[in-house]
Amino acid sequence: MSAGVATMGTGVVTGATRESTDQSDLAVEVSRLSKRYGAVEAVKEVSFSVARGEVFAFLGPNGAGKTTTIKMLCTLARPTGGSATVDGFDVQRQPKAVRRHIGLVFQEQTLDDQLTAEENLRFHAVLYHVPRAEVDERIDRVLRLVALEDRRRDLISTFSGGMARRLEIARGMLHTPAVLFLDEPTIGLDPQTRSLMWEDVLRLRREEGVTIFLTTHYMDEAEYADRIAIIDQGSIVALDTPDELKRLVGADTVELTTTDDALAVTRLSDAGFRVNRSEDALVVFVEDGEALVARLIEVVGVPVSNVHVHRPTLDDVFLHFTGRQIREDHAEHAMPMRMRAMARRH
Ligand SMILES: Nc1ncnc2c1ncn2[C@@H]1O[C@H](COP(=O)(O)OP(=O)(O)OP(=O)(O)O)[C@@H](O)[C@H]1O
Ligand SMILES: [Mg+2]
Repeated sequence: MSAGVATMGTGVVTGATRESTDQSDLAVEVSRLSKRYGAVEAVKEVSFSVARGEVFAFLGPNGAGKTTTIKMLCTLARPTGGSATVDGFDVQRQPKAVRRHIGLVFQEQTLDDQLTAEENLRFHAVLYHVPRAEVDERIDRVLRLVALEDRRRDLISTFSGGMARRLEIARGMLHTPAVLFLDEPTIGLDPQTRSLMWEDVLRLRREEGVTIFLTTHYMDEAEYADRIAIIDQGSIVALDTPDELKRLVGADTVELTTTDDALAVTRLSDAGFRVNRSEDALVVFVEDGEALVARLIEVVGVPVSNVHVHRPTLDDVFLHFTGRQIREDHAEHAMPMRMRAMARRH
């Protein structure tokens, strides 16, 4: 078992009972929360709240401050500024109560390879003081929630990465948390497994009423969330529903590939167009893309080899708010850690 889980277990007094006195509709409330590591401001005065039963996503590239925020909310890192409550408990003044009411799935895999799925869950049930009489029923339930009932007696070392991840989610649900934190639950998984994972997550919310706070690099999957906070360099740059974020971008995007992008950008800007330059194309934001294509090509004035018009996606939203693209290779940078965790199993 990892040091991380052991830390989470420390000081846990009781597991399954939900004795929160908090009547608020908010599962998480964060006010100007900050974390500084020496000269690095990992999280800069972020404020947001998460409603009970909400699926809330932090979307941002490597180093944006996603894990640091989760660590502060889970009482594993001390804020250097601001405040936060989780399930009504203050993360600094009531850390034990916070830990009792949360489940956490770390960015790195933390299952014990040499134990079976069921043994991993039993160990966790002890750590989290799930009442003995409830353990069997609870294990059955969480295994069913992630569709792993038939693998309960198999060693984790025989699990695929996706199965291991789903078992970690089940483990995070074992003590019936009010809020489940998932740090990059789908990193390094193939698209099909990622979509299975999302089915699990939405089922947990539906059947257990748990609030879910997750982080991701992936634009497409952030759209499953009720609301998304886009975090970049320690700050929240936008926070809203996926639809509203797209509406805020408020325009079609026209991607142009030209023989001289630098010149094309200058000409488009001079003509009053809102334009961003990505690595391999120009992106122009306009009210009605199709109607303006001919005009854009005329303004650019250099040969255009490719034109693509599309309605806003979350990629465009990220570009709009940060001036940069969030790319899949950000996720790949984060993979070695995950791959190391998987390699340890062999
Ligand atoms: N323990 C630490 N000591 C020093 N700096 C840290 C520590 N933990 C995080 N940082 C720094 O804080 C910043 C935010 O890191 P964090 O891990 O929160 O990012 P992230 O959004 O989770 O990134 P990733 O997508 O790679 O997981 C980074 O610049 C990182 O180097
Ligand atoms: Mg992280």
